[in-house]
Amino acid sequence: MDNTELLRRANEARTRSYSPYSGFAVGAALLCADGSVFTGTNIENAAYGPSICAERVAMFKAISEGHRDFARLAVSCPGDHCRPCGVCRQVMFEHAPDMEVLMGNPEGECVKTTVRELLPDGFTL
Ligand code: THU
Repeated sequence: MDNTELLRRANEARTRSYSPYSGFAVGAALLCADGSVFTGTNIENAAYGPSICAERVAMFKAISEGHRDFARLAVSCPGDHCRPCGVCRQVMFEHAPDMEVLMGNPEGECVKTTVRELLPDGFTL
């Protein structure tokens, strides 16, 4: 799957965001090594703490379905390009430190980076 299509899938996932508190819809699409794609969107909660980011929903869906070989992740939110939060960077680092990350927006623009660039010298046990 090419980058344009993966970003399109991330933007499609944005439309399913449950974000009544922030009003900020984020979408993610994770491509696995076998070609399967898992999407995610941010899901907020009135108690705030239980809220979860789009990227982690996509990664946790993949892991819970037995897919841990991540190839590329696209994330999209309004603005110039979507920068994953620190918690999501740590989860990416755990499973795919060399994964490519496409940071995009609803206009289809994106900036390419890698997990190692997003989280240099990340924590491992
Ligand atoms: N959010 C994500 O889904 N991914 C990120 O990397 C940054 C933030 C969500 C969390 C919250 O629902 C909303 O964006 C505003 O912070």
